[in-house]
Amino acid sequence: SGSARKDDAGVLHVGGLPVTEIAATHGTPAYVLDEDDFRDRARAFRDGFAGWDVYYAGKAFLCTAVAGWVAEEGLCLDVCSPGELAVALRAGVDPARIGYHGNNKTVPALRHALEVGVGRIILDSFAEIERVAALAAETGLPARVMIRVTAGVEAHTHEYIATAHEDQKFGFSITSGDAFEAVRRVLAADGVELRGLHSHIGSQIFDSAGFEVAARRVLALHARAAAELGAVLPEMDLGGGFGIAYTTQDDPSTPEVLAAEMRAIVDHECRGLQIEVPHLSIEPGRAIVGPSTCTLYEVGTVKEVALDGGARRTYVSVDGGMSDNIRTALYDADYSCTIASRASAADPVLARVVGHHCEAGDIVVKDEFLPGDVAPGDLLAVPATGAYCRSMASNYNHALRPPVIAVKDGVARVVVRRETLDDLLATDVGPQA
Ligand code: LLP
Repeated sequence: SGSARKDDAGVLHVGGLPVTEIAATHGTPAYVLDEDDFRDRARAFRDGFAGWDVYYAGKAFLCTAVAGWVAEEGLCLDVCSPGELAVALRAGVDPARIGYHGNNKTVPALRHALEVGVGRIILDSFAEIERVAALAAETGLPARVMIRVTAGVEAHTHEYIATAHEDQKFGFSITSGDAFEAVRRVLAADGVELRGLHSHIGSQIFDSAGFEVAARRVLALHARAAAELGAVLPEMDLGGGFGIAYTTQDDPSTPEVLAAEMRAIVDHECRGLQIEVPHLSIEPGRAIVGPSTCTLYEVGTVKEVALDGGARRTYVSVDGGMSDNIRTALYDADYSCTIASRASAADPVLARVVGHHCEAGDIVVKDEFLPGDVAPGDLLAVPATGAYCRSMASNYNHALRPPVIAVKDGVARVVVRRETLDDLLATDVGPQA
């Protein structure tokens, strides 16, 4: 992360604190979140996309403290479940600055969103249109909505996190005509205000070509709504998905560059279509929180395994694993790591960092060169674990989910505490059941 660097003794410092001290106080595994890095990235998006609304995508990582930082830095917040909405409201986020997502929103969840005055609800199916229309009629509460459309783009990312090709669950297809029909039905619903269209093409994307195609198709639908239905849709959201560097192989754009590219695309399309440029928004999650955090583990065992052809691989087992970072197992994601507690002059060995779970696929870092003297007791840091690690953490093997420790100006503060065995046992109703 931004402030992370090693001192002469090879000890990693984050937010002005040696990670050895953080580990001694708070234990391992732990997510260490550099608050200034988070805030700097939030501001970079806010300023780079000045004039647009930037919704931080809470699914990447959300807790009360982070929701507060998001609001303080002038960003809006994207939530996609009653749980995320509860965290946002607890943090005091202005409901008018919250967008509510999801592909299967229940009637009670929609009712709650309307009651608290969520700024916009992004509708994903004809059933949801009917639900919101019925609730608006019943309660008389204003319902401001957007329609999630599928732009038909093949985003170049892992299949499981690409969302704008036709054969997946999200949105209304533009190609099939469903998206236009959705616009027609929302416009016809009393008490439901259609703010505009929403497109999210996928995640961990580096190439702006996908955004360009999506913007062109979505704006064409804006133009068609104006021409055929006489409806000027005031807003458009181009979603999130901006890639970050997990290893030195990745080379992400800055928010300034992304913003310049996206502005140029939108301006060009709107000129061609002869429509007003709508008010724009984006929803970055990973690009704000991902690089802000590293996971600290303690090495427990080291084992050498002979590979075909005579090479050897060193298996380094740490005290966490797929329960605190499922991304390697789920998406074949690449991570790097480093010994964070000391320097070493030992020759590097090819290492694989694995967890403590009862599963061979429990890999945190597939391949990394670590000093050959890596040993039990060493602290290992895995960078760029801020997004979709704590938020996708599980209790597999009854693991206790690690804490999130925010560091700033040399002070560490627990923002999510470590789970305890009592937390785990609390949901198990026990032998009387
Ligand atoms: N907006 C919508 C409607 C989304 O569905 C998402 C992510 C985002 C914004 C934020 O995308 P981001 O900027 O963070 O890429 N668990 C996967 C990623 C799934 C993303 C789901 N939606 C992963 O670990 O890579």
